[in-house]
Order: sequence, then C-alpha cells, then structure tokens
Amino acid sequence: MDKFLIKGHKPLRGLVEVGGSKNAALPILTATLLGDSPSIIHNVPDLLDVQTMLSVLASLGVKVDKVDARSYRIDPTLLSKAEAPYELIRKMRASFLVVGPLISCLGRAQVPLPGGCAIGSRPVDLHLKGFSQLGVKVSMHSGYVEAWAESLHGGQVYLDFPSVGATENILMLASSIEEETVITNAAREPEIADLSRFLSLMGADIQGAGTDTIVVRGKKKLLGNEYTIMNDRIEAGTFCVAAAITGGEVEIRGVDSFLILSVLNKLEETGARVTKLGNDRILISMLEQPRPVTIKTMPYPGFPTDMQAQFMSLLCLADGVSVITETVFENRFAHVGELERMGAQIQVEGRSAVVLGVEKLTGAEVRATDLRAGAALVLAGLAAEMETLVYGVSHIDRGYEGIESKLKKLGASIERLAE
Ligand code: EPZ
Repeated sequence: MDKFLIKGHKPLRGLVEVGGSKNAALPILTATLLGDSPSIIHNVPDLLDVQTMLSVLASLGVKVDKVDARSYRIDPTLLSKAEAPYELIRKMRASFLVVGPLISCLGRAQVPLPGGCAIGSRPVDLHLKGFSQLGVKVSMHSGYVEAWAESLHGGQVYLDFPSVGATENILMLASSIEEETVITNAAREPEIADLSRFLSLMGADIQGAGTDTIVVRGKKKLLGNEYTIMNDRIEAGTFCVAAAITGGEVEIRGVDSFLILSVLNKLEETGARVTKLGNDRILISMLEQPRPVTIKTMPYPGFPTDMQAQFMSLLCLADGVSVITETVFENRFAHVGELERMGAQIQVEGRSAVVLGVEKLTGAEVRATDLRAGAALVLAGLAAEMETLVYGVSHIDRGYEGIESKLKKLGASIERLAE
C-alpha cells in the first residue's frame, strides 16, 4: 500500500475538474449485462473499485474491452456464469449489484454474501426481499446467496429503508420484466437517475427515478447502447471542503451545484463563500475560521453520509462545538481516532460525534480505514501544521482518481510514497 506525505497549512487556489461518478459507474457497468448486444460506456473513472467491477464482469464470461482512457465496450452476449467469485465480492460490496442482471439473463445467481466492512454490517436483506416480490426464490447457504426464478413477474416493492443498492438492483431486474413494477420508498440519489437514463436508452420504460416512487415497465429484450456517466458529486464536495479547510479559493468544475446543495448550504453556514459561476462551476473560498454547525446525514437530498468524514475534518477547526449525527451507517466514525491523533477534540456518543473546534491541527502519522475516512485525513493534513503521513492510500484510490495530482495543481504539497 502507498502513503501520502503532506506538508500542510497552505491555502489551495485554482481550478479542479471532477471526474466520472464511481457510484454511477458501478451500477451502470452491471446494467450492460441486460443488453442483447455490446454497450459502450464513457467517462468511467480510473478507480480500484471500477477495476474490481470490470474483473467481476469478466469472471462471468463477459467480454470487457478498454476503448480509451475512460471508455469501455462491454459485450454481455458471452455471459456464461451465474456464480460470482468470493475473492472479488469480498473486495467490494457493490459487486452484489450483479445479482439482478444475472437473474434476468441466466434465471439464477449464486453470489457470496458481501461481508461487513469498516463502516458497518451492510446486509442485503432489502435487495432479496425486493427480488422475492418479483418472483425470485432465495436461499442462503455457507455464506452464499442462491437466487433463481422460474417465472419473473411485475409487482409492488416497498423498501423499509431507501437503500441505494437495493433500489438499483431491483430497478435493473424490473427493467427486464414485461409487466409493471412499482418501487416505493426508493432511494432518490442522482446516481439512480443516471442508471435509469441508461436503462431507458436500452428500452425500459421508467418513470420517477430520482423520486421515492419508481414505476417500471420493462422489456425482456433490452438493447446494448452507448452512454456517458455523470460526474462525481462526492468528489466535487470533497474538493469544496478542501478549499474551505485550507482557507483558499478554488473553482470546482463539472458538477451541477444542485446535486450537492446540502453540502454547499452547510459550507455557507460555516462562513465559507459559495459562488455559482454557472450550472456546473462552483467557487469556494474561506477567509476566516469556520463557524460550528450541526449536521445529520440523511438519504438524498439530505446531507450525504459520504461527505460526513470530510466535513468533520473542517469542523475540527471551527470556533465552537459542532454535532455530527450519522443516521445511515452504524459505524462510520473510524476517522475520529485518527483525527484526534492530529489534535482534534471529538467525543463520540452512539451515532453522534461532538466536535470541539481547536485552533490548529498538527501533522501526524495516520491511517485510512475506508475511502471517505481516508479523504478526511488528507483534508486534515492539508490544513494541519507540519507534516502528515496518511497510510492506507489504496482505500482512497478506490474512489478518487489521482487525488494527489489534482491537489498538487491547487498548490498542495503532497507526495505519494511506497509504504
Ligand atoms: C451506496 O452504498 C454507496 N455505494 C455508498 O457509497 C453510500 O454511502 C451509500 O449508498 C449511502 O448513500 C455505491 O453506490 C457503490 P445503502 P449501498 O444500501 O448501496 C442498510 C462511498 O463511499 N441496508 O443505501 O451499500 C445498510 O446497512 C460508498 O462511495 C440494509 O439494512 O448503501 C446501510 O446502513 C460508501 N439492508 C444503509 O441501509 C439492505 O438490503 C444504507 O445502505 C441494504 C442496505
């Protein structure tokens, strides 16, 4: 694994272009399996998680060809296996998104239960319950999910929680069923609307994606197509916080500010200046010490859980007490201990973290335990005095393409070193 050496306390200035969305790319790459012909997907970010997903597809017999730096041609006509390999599923929970397409294409799927991870147990019960309402039978044995369907049918799917992955998996299966399916209490994340746009191009009739009720009239025969993935709103949000935490001024380009309204709203509450230069250009500057705020993570359009760790780094330097409540995952405060090693004062009480702002953070050796915790530690290092060594950079590489080169272009002193 690599590590980052960061010499902090330098304001970031300049322009950063965000790349393709990891959380749109992963479901859309699996959706290509539903086509009767190859699909070409553009703006695919160069990330470890994307490479893992492409390996999963290849392990099922699918032909994956790289067309250019960020485009892939996926030929699902060679799909031959319904069993996904444990060692790949173990690496990435999102691999479970192949289940819906496999049931549609091969009538069955045998996929290892994705284990827990650093941010929680992350069950798949809502995926399976939704599948069963469409005629799928499910059994579990020795850590595997066996799902099969003699005859799929439309139906009413109610999600107890607006799970992003469950909504995507069920939406993909429903898109290949000729009858009507209604998904209620669906997740509303923009990445679901992006997936829906691709599925509609393939021939499905989908209404309401991006709202809490999605009505699907699928087609047994969906067509391969060409599609360009949306840009990454969480990468954009991360760079917005990077500008604020270093007291700099940065233009973040490539994401509609509406998609991160909750994050921009909270940044303004801390005293950051947020200027919309156009529908996908945001200027962030911070001229004084951040003010404390209260944050509660919620499903979209609430404050995104994927921005919680990054924002906590900023609030470590606020002139007062902030409270952050994490309602989406049960264990997403692993970054707290590492931030405390840098001088932060944080008290975790159950699902809430009370952050007492301090004058400064001091560089230290810290370790990333998951993707967004890693990003939070990089942000803290950029603001801290002296040097910070962030170990476990491969966690960050899962979701940020070339983060160190983008930060260097903004004036940061950050080097990637072998651990
Ligand atoms: C997606 O994960 C994202 N990943 C996550 O981003 C994101 O944090 C999460 O949605 C919430 O927005 C991708 O899109 C690839 P969920 P997902 O199903 O689909 C519980 C990142 O940093 N749940 O909405 O796994 C679950 O345990 C990653 O980019 C069930 O109980 O999230 C969790 O507490 C991290 N049963 C909550 O719902 C289920 O069947 C949210 O999970 C499914 C989920």
